[in-house]
Amino acid sequence: MRDKISIIGVGNVGASCAMWLARTNLADLVLVDVPQAETMPVAKALDLLQTGPIMGYNSRLVGTANGSYDGTENSDIIIITGGLPRKPGMSREDLVGVNQQVITDIIDNALPRSPKAIVIVVTNPLDTMTYLAYKHSRLPKNRVIGQAGILDSARFAAFVAQELNVAIENVQTVVMGGHGDEMVPLTRYSTVFGVPLTEWLSADKLSAIVERTRKGGSEIVNLLKTSAYYAPGAALAKIAIAVLTDQKLIVPCSAYLEGEYGLNDICFGVPVKLGSNGIEQIIELKLTDEEQALTQKSVGIIRETMKALR
Ligand code: LAC
Repeated sequence: MRDKISIIGVGNVGASCAMWLARTNLADLVLVDVPQAETMPVAKALDLLQTGPIMGYNSRLVGTANGSYDGTENSDIIIITGGLPRKPGMSREDLVGVNQQVITDIIDNALPRSPKAIVIVVTNPLDTMTYLAYKHSRLPKNRVIGQAGILDSARFAAFVAQELNVAIENVQTVVMGGHGDEMVPLTRYSTVFGVPLTEWLSADKLSAIVERTRKGGSEIVNLLKTSAYYAPGAALAKIAIAVLTDQKLIVPCSAYLEGEYGLNDICFGVPVKLGSNGIEQIIELKLTDEEQALTQKSVGIIRETMKALR
């Protein structure tokens, strides 16, 4: 049997994710959106199905109409992108009230049809929505994964490659922490050709790149008047691919913590190992006092946001 992924919410992020995933031939895709979207998911699925002969992929895609979840049954993975994106001037935290309802509705509709699925969340505010999905679904913690760190690390890597004029493959970056302006780029653990960034870049240059990485989402929101979607969609696809192919890939994701990094009862961006069981391991990096202080600041912001959950 072919694997199945349901993507709930096929606005820009969900549709981009569907596009990246379709090209892998790893799974069939079911696209779902809210009732007000009417036949939009049907149309996008058809459009991407018709792209197959051009791009040479075989993935089957179907979309549902009027918010229906029929056809999502027995999905191996449920990707939740639903919810409002940011507008200029909004923080990710501003979205908590509206998006809370969206997440719980999606879980209530999708999970009973696919009780064995692994759930991947990208809705903002990311760490709080991942926490909500974990609590509301009552799934084991390895099966709820928040996407943020792959995107944040990718932004960091892209800026470094551009600055040093080196190939992307030479750059390895690590970003921990919440998906917000207080994320924690770990410059010490980030390298070009295995050599720490601190050897390649002056302190000023490095801190400018770190700052641009932190504000990477807002930079695009301000230019585009809505959220980024190509890279967020690709980051979601990367998680799904790692799970479907049991890749044992280490990447930063938002995970429910029980004591790791001294944190409890929170979803937070940490390096995890992804395989067919979802989050198979949480990797605990040694942090300096300064990195720990940054981590605590990021935790404080997430805990503040979590208070807005009803
Ligand atoms: C960003 C949004 C998706 O970082 O959170 O672009």
